[in-house]
Amino acid sequence: MNFKKKILCIGAGYVGGPTMAMIARKCPDYKITVVDINAARIAAWNGPEIPIYEPGLEEVVRQQRNKNLFFSTDVDAGIREADIIFVAVNTPTKSFGEGAGKAADLQYWEKTARQILANSGKGKIIVEKSTLPVRTAEAMERILNSNDKGLHFEVLSNPEFLAEGTAIADLENPDRVLIGSRETPEGLKARQEVVDIYAHWVPRKNIIESNVWSAELSKLVANAFLAQRVSSINSISALCEKTEADVGEVAYAIGTDSRIGPKFLKASVGFGGSCFQKDILNLVYICQSYGLTEVADYWESVVKLNQWQQQRFVQTILSSLFNTVAGKRIALLGFAFKADTGDTRESPAITVARGLAEEHAQVVVSDPKAVPQAKIDLKDLGTFVEFEVDPYKACEGAHAVAILTEWKQYKDLDFDRILASMQAPAFLFDGRNILDHKALFDKGFNVFAIGKTPLSHF
Ligand SMILES: NC(=O)c1ccc[n+]([C@@H]2O[C@H](COP(=O)([O-])OP(=O)(O)OC[C@H]3O[C@@H](n4cnc5c(N)ncnc54)[C@H](O)[C@@H]3O)[C@@H](O)[C@H]2O)c1
Repeated sequence: MNFKKKILCIGAGYVGGPTMAMIARKCPDYKITVVDINAARIAAWNGPEIPIYEPGLEEVVRQQRNKNLFFSTDVDAGIREADIIFVAVNTPTKSFGEGAGKAADLQYWEKTARQILANSGKGKIIVEKSTLPVRTAEAMERILNSNDKGLHFEVLSNPEFLAEGTAIADLENPDRVLIGSRETPEGLKARQEVVDIYAHWVPRKNIIESNVWSAELSKLVANAFLAQRVSSINSISALCEKTEADVGEVAYAIGTDSRIGPKFLKASVGFGGSCFQKDILNLVYICQSYGLTEVADYWESVVKLNQWQQQRFVQTILSSLFNTVAGKRIALLGFAFKADTGDTRESPAITVARGLAEEHAQVVVSDPKAVPQAKIDLKDLGTFVEFEVDPYKACEGAHAVAILTEWKQYKDLDFDRILASMQAPAFLFDGRNILDHKALFDKGFNVFAIGKTPLSHF
């Protein structure tokens, strides 16, 4: 079949896979190839069990695969034939040298730029899909346009705003798509080509155009604002626990103010995921490098509060269980950083499991999707940790149960059965505030929820 355009995506991860699957579904006239250096990941995308759990994704992949959606490890061949290249490689926090712990590690990014240049026989549009520090496009342009082949590359920013767990719905019906480019004639022409892709299904008014630096920065700022709301309500949850105010009631009362709005006001054990902390620290580092110390400190406090909230949860378990958890079985229900994903990156459950293991508790990790990854994340904890997918078995003989992921099925558990199988007195810590605390207290549990007065039988 003759395709109108050939699109390549470098990086077949949580962003590259779902985004390209959606573009393939909506743009049957475009050929989409997704490449990755991770051969096992590509084999999984081509096999019966795709490598990412995401509601609705498997169906889209099955429908488009080998029609106009292809997965391959041949990065060089993909580059050679592509007109437009999306780059969705990982951009983790730098762990060494200047900026360690905060700056983005751009080594994968730069390698990709050099590989694109080495394999290009014609100029191309390069689209930054990964989240990157503001002004990265400038570095990429310098590498790409420093060639002696007379080739010209336009580098655009099209950050991804999907949320894991709802990626397909987010991609199908995005609040907005943001496309930033240089405002030169070539830049605007390239911008139009990327707009044309999304205009296949996204209403034109929801496609926002901007200069390339605004687009790059907007992604960092969006994540910083979202995380800041979580840390803000979590800070208030601590005050509620001291004052008999209820954080759910406070969140509802303030969220009905249309200037504040109700979303991202749910108090919890803390935010996780691969992006929030990384992107805020990246913003902090950028501000520091421009000498904006006050701005950097302001945003860094969002991350610090989040770390404190997770440690505070461990402290609550410890102090409630008479200041010792050594040898006590504690079941953690949920290990993914949120429901409907198997992703555990930066999950608060990791901090909680480690904090309890340090106190020599016998931690039992349960999760419907994330147990295989949890085994990898916690492999150094040795005999202090066990893994059990079945939540009922995980709770058998436990002194305490902690809810760490808001999986829907945890709301519907038979808590009479769980209570009967636990040690007495039984403790329940709801790190996601998803359970009916009063009903559980009436059954006999001692219930500790985030931002609520403890319901204790002593
Ligand atoms: N995960 C999310 O929800 C999300 C949402 C929005 C934006 N982002 C951003 O998107 C980017 C990618 O995130 P992700 O979660 O998909 O990461 P990921 O780790 O799941 O996937 C990245 C993939 O890129 C591959 N890769 C790395 N270097 C490569 C190279 N030189 N050639 C080919 N493949 C290469 C890796 O093997 C990996 O499979 C990050 O910058 C992230 O901040 C992520």
